Amino acid sequence: MKELVLVTGGAGFIGGHLVDALIARGYRVRVLDNLSPATHDGKLPKWFNKKAQFQKGDVRLKKDWEKALKGVSYIFHIAGYMDYRPDFSTYITTNTMSTALMYEVILEKKLLVKKILLASSQSVYGEGKYKCPTHGEQYSAPRDPERLKKKDWDVYCKCGKRMTPIAELEGDELFPINPYGVSKRGLEEIALTLGREYSIPTVAFRYAIVHGARQSFRNFYSGALRSFVVQALAGIPMSIHEDGNQMRDFVHIDDVVSAHMKALESSKADYNIFNIGSGRRDTVLDLAHAVAKETRSKSKPGITGMYRTYTSRNSIMDVSKLKKIGWKPRRTLTDNVRDYVAWVGKYPEALAHLRRIQKDLAKNRVVR
Ligand SMILES: NC(=O)c1ccc[n+]([C@@H]2O[C@H](COP(=O)([O-])OP(=O)(O)OC[C@H]3O[C@@H](n4cnc5c(N)ncnc54)[C@H](O)[C@@H]3O)[C@@H](O)[C@H]2O)c1
Repeated sequence: MKELVLVTGGAGFIGGHLVDALIARGYRVRVLDNLSPATHDGKLPKWFNKKAQFQKGDVRLKKDWEKALKGVSYIFHIAGYMDYRPDFSTYITTNTMSTALMYEVILEKKLLVKKILLASSQSVYGEGKYKCPTHGEQYSAPRDPERLKKKDWDVYCKCGKRMTPIAELEGDELFPINPYGVSKRGLEEIALTLGREYSIPTVAFRYAIVHGARQSFRNFYSGALRSFVVQALAGIPMSIHEDGNQMRDFVHIDDVVSAHMKALESSKADYNIFNIGSGRRDTVLDLAHAVAKETRSKSKPGITGMYRTYTSRNSIMDVSKLKKIGWKPRRTLTDNVRDYVAWVGKYPEALAHLRRIQKDLAKNRVVR
């Protein structure tokens, strides 16, 4: 058996797939997870790998890190808080403070950790870079709420011309537009700074929107694929925010897992930040059409004309840096949709969760 790997958040969607991949490669795995109610129903999910050790605990608590880190050679810090709720400090304590705590315990206990991989997010970029036909490339500020109220969804230069999005690069300046993005930027900065200072190889990944089986339908944040599939299976219109032409990067969980395995086993990845995306530019409407086709549903994309606050118009990633260490994305948008449909179709209660979440989003004026 190979060495012991700690996976925080290993009872969740991405962490759970990483646990399986590590065990399949011969690693021993320990999971630290608090089974947060945003994702879980109080129990370990049925699919949790029986070969992994499970420690119920919280990444915000030093004593839980002290116990979880014993004998560990590698760490995947995947647990995270992603939501739209106004409990701003929870983003910072769960995503940023937990990261500092992890390095603190490693240093205090003089632990021999060989590498740390962390889950960051595309949200660190905010609205990102655009190109104006007259004034060229520039970073965009968040969109003007007055324009959004008038259902004018595009991104404009100061000269008034409409701009086109540019795929985000790891070296871009970061302008997160929500507390979640701020907390992930903090996670990256603290991890890379401490990793370099104390020579603990550290790698942070900025995930695009990750799709695949096991993605919780309880989560407030889990996005368009979940709603479209659940609505299509129920034969009701798929509710599309804005006009559906916003571009997104939808990456399959298998491509996310293979990026982690590549970085785990290659020293070329050390002390770097990488985007993990699909390498494609899909619109939200493309996703809705793919869902309609895969579910053979009569439900049509329904443009609501509403919008989600704290959200960028376009989010697309450049993945060439990760390709340089030998990774490439292999899965298609159809694969993403097919795998989620096959999984969520087994959970008829998903529709009730979606309705509850939609009410919550409207009540909190996150969708308006
Ligand atoms: N899913 C995506 O599209 C996406 C995109 C960008 C970044 N991410 C990041 O990837 C990571 C995993 O996301 P996911 O989609 O698998 O979510 P998930 O909710 O399925 O999994 C997260 C896991 O972390 C656990 N957790 C939460 N708070 C914790 C705490 N305080 N202590 C211990 N465990 C805790 C939860 O119980 C859950 O099992 C997160 O850090 C998230 O911010 C996800």
